[in-house]
Amino acid sequence: MRNFNRSLWLETTPITNYETFRGELKTDVAVIGAGIVGITTAYLLKKAGLRVTLLESNRICEGNTANTTAKITSLHDVFYTKITENYGKDSAAQYGLANEKAIQKIREIIEENKIDCDFKEQINVIYTLLEENLPMLHEEVRVARSLGLPARFIEESSLPFDIKGGVCFDNQAQFHPRKYLLALAEKIEGGDCHIFENSRVVDLENEDKGYKVITKEGTVYASNVVVATHFPIFDRYGLYFAKMHAERSYALGITAPDFPLDGMYKSYENPARSFRTQEANGNQYIILGGEGHRTGEKEDTQECYNNLFEYAKVIYDGKFDLHFKWSAQDMMPLDDIPYIGQYGKSTEGLYVATGFKKWGMSSSMVAAMIITDEIMGKINEHRDIFSARRFELAPSIMELGGNVKEATKNIIAARLNNTTKTLEDLKLGEGTHIIYKGEKVGAYKDEEGRVYIVDIVCKHLGCELHFNDAEKSWDCPCHGSRYTIRGEIIEAPTTEPIKLIQL
Ligand SMILES: Cc1cc2nc3c(=O)[nH]c(=O)nc-3n(C[C@H](O)[C@H](O)[C@H](O)COP(=O)(O)OP(=O)(O)OC[C@H]3O[C@@H](n4cnc5c(N)ncnc54)[C@H](O)[C@@H]3O)c2cc1C
Ligand code: FES
Repeated sequence: MRNFNRSLWLETTPITNYETFRGELKTDVAVIGAGIVGITTAYLLKKAGLRVTLLESNRICEGNTANTTAKITSLHDVFYTKITENYGKDSAAQYGLANEKAIQKIREIIEENKIDCDFKEQINVIYTLLEENLPMLHEEVRVARSLGLPARFIEESSLPFDIKGGVCFDNQAQFHPRKYLLALAEKIEGGDCHIFENSRVVDLENEDKGYKVITKEGTVYASNVVVATHFPIFDRYGLYFAKMHAERSYALGITAPDFPLDGMYKSYENPARSFRTQEANGNQYIILGGEGHRTGEKEDTQECYNNLFEYAKVIYDGKFDLHFKWSAQDMMPLDDIPYIGQYGKSTEGLYVATGFKKWGMSSSMVAAMIITDEIMGKINEHRDIFSARRFELAPSIMELGGNVKEATKNIIAARLNNTTKTLEDLKLGEGTHIIYKGEKVGAYKDEEGRVYIVDIVCKHLGCELHFNDAEKSWDCPCHGSRYTIRGEIIEAPTTEPIKLIQL
């Protein structure tokens, strides 16, 4: 298999070049992080007449949003039966209708701004290959319809194999996420609104009437702050480290002209298999996704790509070409409902949007609409079901996710010299824990024999990092921070790099 880990979205759009933030600036709202949440929220806030400053640590829209599969849908797995049981019919309807409104809002923004982003109306389907799952899927259709959602049951599809049945939502959509978001970003920049790249936020201080947002090279004074960093970066509020964990999954971009596909699909069964199409470079690509696992828990991540490739061989009878492969991660909340709204108990004017459980295209618009309303002093009718503070009254519930237990295990592991490997044992292309000068460290030897040694303790809350073989990165199983082989930050919540140890 060819070894190139860059998404179709990144490969078919230009790189951006916004300035780095230096000095001081006053603004109404500072938005931290420019993925789909940050860019969408900044856009709506500007439309509402506010001064907005968007601060991105890297380049805009090069994080998880650049590595998504970008299905825009309110069918988030088989979920409406569960949310109705857990929270009641009203809350379930709020969830579904908020996401349906979000899809409509994306449509309107694209039309209003004439954004050429390959937006296409589609069905979205969760299908099963097993007879025994049919009653569950029928029930999901019944519940979803009773909530006013566009659900129906299907027995056939354009997938290259027979399905037993599926939950199908009509009037859903797909797009090219970077084409959409780079165009929105152009609408944000200008007048009293700014986008800054390479401007990592490292701290936040309370001010009399607002917040001081501190970057590497400057300070933004803002009445309101939106934390859109995927995993929220400020640990002293909100307890997000106990309320979420990160899960990675993988995608291949292939062509298989003998097997035309129409619609968007995901399997009900695990390992998950996801399908959609995308036109680019004169080709009709099929994006095949799946193989999710907790970030940092699996070292042989190359196996995930290999499994998808082998699966493609079977279903396309070997008649396909591989053009792209990429991976990303998303945040999994305790009850499968995103955390949107005020960041913590005592943080008026500080907002968060996270925990999209791999359904962030519509959920990010839900978040942008709720947060914009909050800042403008309006009550959004859908806000309660998404409240980011819903577990604050019952901290014991947070234990259910096992996130605290997992963190404790990994913090202890980081302090044990539980390997006998040394530098001499390291093979070409291998990354692992070794003992170096009496300390456990992380070491990677590239194919040319160059060795990179890093501190193995995550700078976020001190968990032990694990090597990610496919992406050549050091990943944290606790909350999903990721670092390069040289220790630079790839992924929040960390705001500090790990030390590269000189040989
Ligand atoms: C494989 C995969 C497939 C998916 N497919 C779908 C799909 O089909 N449909 C769907 O709805 N959802 C899907 N999702 C989910 C969706 O992609 C995500 O929920 C969404 O992209 C998250 O957007 P975000 O803006 O929160 O994060 P990101 O896009 O990661 O943006 C966060 C930004 O914050 C920046 N940042 C971090 N720390 C700082 C700091 N300290 N200072 C400044 N900036 C900072 C980062 O650099 C980054 O640019 C998928 C997820 C995965 C993993
Ligand atoms: S991401 Fe939290 S400890 Fe590493």
